[in-house]
Amino acid sequence: MSTAADQLQIRHLTPRIGSEITSDVETLLSGRVAAQIRATLEQRGVVFFRGLQITDEQQVAIARTLGTVVAGEGQDGIYKISLDDTVNQRAKYLKGSLFWHFDGSLQPYPNLATLLRGVTLSDTGGQTEFCNTYAAYDDLPQPEKDRIAGLRVVHSAERSQYYVTPEMSYDEIAFWQKSATKECPVVWTHRSGRRSLLLGATADYVQGMPVEQSRALLARLRDWATQPQYVYRHEWRVGDLLIWDNTGTMHRALPYAADSGRLMHRTILAGEEPLR
Ligand code: OGA
Ligand code: MN
Repeated sequence: MSTAADQLQIRHLTPRIGSEITSDVETLLSGRVAAQIRATLEQRGVVFFRGLQITDEQQVAIARTLGTVVAGEGQDGIYKISLDDTVNQRAKYLKGSLFWHFDGSLQPYPNLATLLRGVTLSDTGGQTEFCNTYAAYDDLPQPEKDRIAGLRVVHSAERSQYYVTPEMSYDEIAFWQKSATKECPVVWTHRSGRRSLLLGATADYVQGMPVEQSRALLARLRDWATQPQYVYRHEWRVGDLLIWDNTGTMHRALPYAADSGRLMHRTILAGEEPLR
């Protein structure tokens, strides 16, 4: 049963994105505040619980109150985010996380949300930045909205790897080209009627547009969406649990050393809504 005591304490960090929620592990595990958290996530793009200091099992249990945990990523719903290839064999792929992106851009449905817990931090760098792609779309001048309505972008793993390894060998290119590409609209019209922008490091080119024009447009929209008024930068403390609405934000990690020891535990919630 929901009681007045379950009203969450929510503090907005910037006008357009990012809120700190104060709660305790028992309340979060009970699921009583799950609907409130989901609503806050959709409005604020990213929320966090400072220094919650939970276990992996508790992280997955909290995730289950919010949606459907994607099995198959990592062990029992926990995937280790590290740039150290002795910790995560896909460390090279994860270097793409230093560039603006949303998760699951190559999947049939983008993920609904991601939970990330700070286990070990780097001494320098390693903050995570988020931008609100609902707010960025809303603020576009009407002629720009008209110009991009209906445009479709091809996303590929190969494209995002050029950020990590600008001079890929033939074998490297052939490897990344084995991953299927995915076509996404630039403007996602959600069931709620709200619209967000879908851009990011996997965005390769706009269908049917000359390549120079297409790259320039994608860069211009990214510049727009990542202006300071749409961005929240999270300065991690050990034990923080952070959740982002992956359908209305992009994110990136600021650079940190692969051998810094930085380790995040990630749990992903499955997408609930197809792109259209
Ligand atoms: C991710 C991601 C950013 C970070 O886990 O999907 O992009 O700060 N992480 O580690
Ligand atoms: Mn990511």
